[in-house]
Amino acid sequence: MDVLINVFVALHVIGIAALLGGFLTQMKAMGEGTARFGPAMLHGALTMLVTGVALVGLNQADDQAVNNVKIGVKLAILVVVLGLVYVKRDEERVDKAVFGAVGGLTAANVFIATLWT
Ligand code: HEM
Repeated sequence: MDVLINVFVALHVIGIAALLGGFLTQMKAMGEGTARFGPAMLHGALTMLVTGVALVGLNQADDQAVNNVKIGVKLAILVVVLGLVYVKRDEERVDKAVFGAVGGLTAANVFIATLWT
């Protein structure tokens, strides 16, 4: 079970890489108002949701304690991120504030995941 959980943590990290990487590589474009939510960001956000839910199930099946409040906060933030990216996925220019919000909320989730012990 440990190996399976670690595989899903790895997939979870790959999801963060796609979502946050998509944001970080477009910060200059964001400043110019020309950034857009590419497929990597959408698929990264979806990967976070699927692997996150799987991790909750796997940890519970393995009798490992899951911090439900922390997971709930992460889930709520991701739902906002996923909603924004999904709704605006076809827009060629995403507003600076909306694009920045997705990057900021994703970074916040990384800190919640790592600092909230
Ligand atoms: C953008 C959204 C998210 C980010 C950036 C993120 C980030 C992370 C990171 C960096 C870890 C590994 C660090 C650790 O084990 O403490 C992790 C673990 C985990 N994540 Fe996420 N996560 C996100 C969304 C979610 C969602 C939506 C769920 C559940 C519905 C979830 C459930 C979990 C679980 C169960 C673990 C392993 C157990 C734990 O230590 O908390 N994550 N996440």
